[in-house]
Amino acid sequence: MDVISVIRTKRDRGELSDEQIDWVVDAYTRGAVADEQMSALAMAILLNGMNRREIARWTAAMIASGERMDFSSLSRPTADKHSTGGVGDKITLPLAPLVAACGAAVPQLSGRGLGHTGGTLDKLESIPGWRALLSNEEMLDVLNGAGSVICAAGDGLAPADKKLYALRDVTGTVEAIPLIASSIMSKKIAEGTGSLVLDVKVGTGAFMKTLDDARELASTMVGLGTDHGVRTVALLTDMSTPLGLTAGNALEVRESVEVLAGGGPADVVELTLALAREMLAAAGLPDADPEKALADGSAMDVWRRMISAQGGDPDAALPVARETHTVTAPASGVLTRLDAYDVGVAAWRLGAGRARKEDPVQAGAGVELHARPGDTVEAGAPLLTLHTDTPERFAYALESLASAYEVAPPGTDFAARPIVLE
Ligand code: URA
Repeated sequence: MDVISVIRTKRDRGELSDEQIDWVVDAYTRGAVADEQMSALAMAILLNGMNRREIARWTAAMIASGERMDFSSLSRPTADKHSTGGVGDKITLPLAPLVAACGAAVPQLSGRGLGHTGGTLDKLESIPGWRALLSNEEMLDVLNGAGSVICAAGDGLAPADKKLYALRDVTGTVEAIPLIASSIMSKKIAEGTGSLVLDVKVGTGAFMKTLDDARELASTMVGLGTDHGVRTVALLTDMSTPLGLTAGNALEVRESVEVLAGGGPADVVELTLALAREMLAAAGLPDADPEKALADGSAMDVWRRMISAQGGDPDAALPVARETHTVTAPASGVLTRLDAYDVGVAAWRLGAGRARKEDPVQAGAGVELHARPGDTVEAGAPLLTLHTDTPERFAYALESLASAYEVAPPGTDFAARPIVLE
């Protein structure tokens, strides 16, 4: 087998055979296929797609690239959640401890920023001392001790995804249903969770821009999970405007802690509770009360135990960017649009995401929102605050915000989109 013939097959709109898929995924994981060759193949897949057989085989090959974990020794049912990626999507941070506080074990394997979307691990790494990389034994220890763990997939778990995920981030090959579905489901199936709730984002700030594409991604992933014996459900949720009032690493940790303390923006609380209910039902705990666990502080207790168990100091001050720049409202009226993609690109350009896969991210960088669609704003009042350690980035970030928002005359009717669409 040679990689050029595999690339040509997909470039010319052919179907990859099972043998081609098994070989190329394994050869890439071993380093026998180079990054530039896999980039070409990923681009061919993005442009020409894959059928269900190819996706199932590609996912199976990614699972087989590494080991599988087994949580059958745990006394609690396991539940996990994965988002397809959004702007300001910090939901995993309050959700994992909340669901654990309600009786499930939550082994939350998470990722880094991808394109203009933020990554849970990049966010949590802004907590001084916190470690994303745990061995399988450490992961089990944290899960047993705290009830939830949020960490990177260990080196041994779906290593093909680890390499391909970082490559797609910097080669414009993220937005492909076969690649997103296999990336997410290979990790989750290899991880061995009993149940999985997928948060499939739809809108400008998501990789799926239309409901039809999001439905197809959701049904592909639910099919893969079900075929591998994982109870899998999906919600389609809105990503036309950022979630909450922050997009950026430390900024989002701060907001998540507010949610765990019983406050936080209403949309973040609503989605956290909706996903918690789905996870608890899928885990066989339909009578658990996540609202109570937020209100009585038990979710916060799990958060503190989990952060400490992973080396972090839950009481440490979070990093703050050295420079800020305020964008003001151009007129008085009703904010009718604040575009998730534009805000995500601005946060990325300010340093919250990467341009090359080896780049570090800035913990304090990002965008803070002072108003959300539907709010009344005054001309000249702050609308957004941009945060970065490198002020030369402001101009570049501001370019992406040039048409990010619209203010309509005072009194204009505004119909908010629901957060959970389907
Ligand atoms: N999350 C993943 O793990 N992979 C993707 O491709 C997109 C979101």
